Amino acid sequence: MKVLVIGSGAREHTLVWKFAQSPKVNQIFAAPGNCGMENLAQLIQLDTNKDILRFAVSEGIDITFVGPEQPLADGIVDEFNKAGKNIIGPSKLAAEIESSKIFAKNFMKKYNIPTTKYQTFDDIVPALDYILHHPPAGGPLVIKADGLAGGKGVFICDNYTDTEIILNHLMHYDMLGKGGHKVIVEDFLEGEEASLFAFCDGNHFVSTILSQDHKQLKDGDKGSNTGGMGAYAPAIFQENLKKEIDDKIIAPTLNGMLKEDRPFIGILYAGLMITKDEPKVLEFNCRLGDPEAQVILPLLENDLVDICQAITEKKINTIELKWKNKSAVAVVLASQGYPGKYEKGKKISGIENIDDKDVLLFFSGVKCENGQYQTNGGRVVSVTAVADNLISAKEKAYTNLKNISFEGMYFRTDIAQKGIQKISSNK
Ligand code: GLY
Repeated sequence: MKVLVIGSGAREHTLVWKFAQSPKVNQIFAAPGNCGMENLAQLIQLDTNKDILRFAVSEGIDITFVGPEQPLADGIVDEFNKAGKNIIGPSKLAAEIESSKIFAKNFMKKYNIPTTKYQTFDDIVPALDYILHHPPAGGPLVIKADGLAGGKGVFICDNYTDTEIILNHLMHYDMLGKGGHKVIVEDFLEGEEASLFAFCDGNHFVSTILSQDHKQLKDGDKGSNTGGMGAYAPAIFQENLKKEIDDKIIAPTLNGMLKEDRPFIGILYAGLMITKDEPKVLEFNCRLGDPEAQVILPLLENDLVDICQAITEKKINTIELKWKNKSAVAVVLASQGYPGKYEKGKKISGIENIDDKDVLLFFSGVKCENGQYQTNGGRVVSVTAVADNLISAKEKAYTNLKNISFEGMYFRTDIAQKGIQKISSNK
């Protein structure tokens, strides 16, 4: 089989790596991919969704798997469907569950899917009035831009002044372009975050183990929001939590999307807050998470081709997901300055010194010149370690990443620590 993976980040590198494990796959393309994937996939530059479709048809691609949200929000799946070509991902309408936060919130309200209290605004005056009169007046509360913002559209505001500044930047100064002109003002929730993916065929789903992302830049969940600085899996919570999420969140979402005539086919990502009462949805995404994919896929025993075929043939309920009895930790090595401005072109050294089959390097912001890896983005590489338990996986990840260096290399030192603390306190 021939597989085409769309995207260029560490999530897509992980997908390429996972497809490469399948005995059914003999050729993988990545569009555009990055040079860290070159030993597994042929890289191809395709500029538009139409170009991607033309390539998939002419090359006889069997499975096209869409990594990031933007091509989905732009309707790549609709183009493939019209041409009768197989692709994994939701349609443009179904992808609105991620590409319009307002659609997602209104949808959750309509179908009683547990989420936070919220109001939507397209004008700053009523938004500020609401914030003043809604307890706790002024904060803490959460502002979310309606449109896609690459992980930069969520703001936790501690007081009225912060909120006013953010709303002004979004709604008047085009901080995120049109996507920030409409906003959601949402209650701030206490609890612990978790991520769950569901492979969906429109009618049925199978969900993965839970993982936990680390979105803030600094240790102890401090600092700016990023695309994700690391993750671990499985994230351990009380035993029946996954069933509760499946029953109260994933199943009604799939049914609701069917009723709305937007059947969800692809990967549904539920970003959750596990509150003391129940799990609540912070956000839905219409694709795998990054860096969660870097810990979920290495623990998944099933052939990804079988999962993709079951999605396409609308029989995902016949798949039983099987998991390695191990833990995985991914630590993201980032450029100094990320998620703000950063320099590129820093030489990356020491990669060749990593020689452990349970340590996987999934590249994102890299380029290669004369056989030398150089930084080319904010998040540069995810170092994933798989081991018998979370403590060993964390140790293995941090021991091995010390081999890698580049000027300004930054990483969090506490990825998976919350999970480890929980294990220790349960003993
Ligand atoms: N890890 C967050 C995301 O993929 O959106």
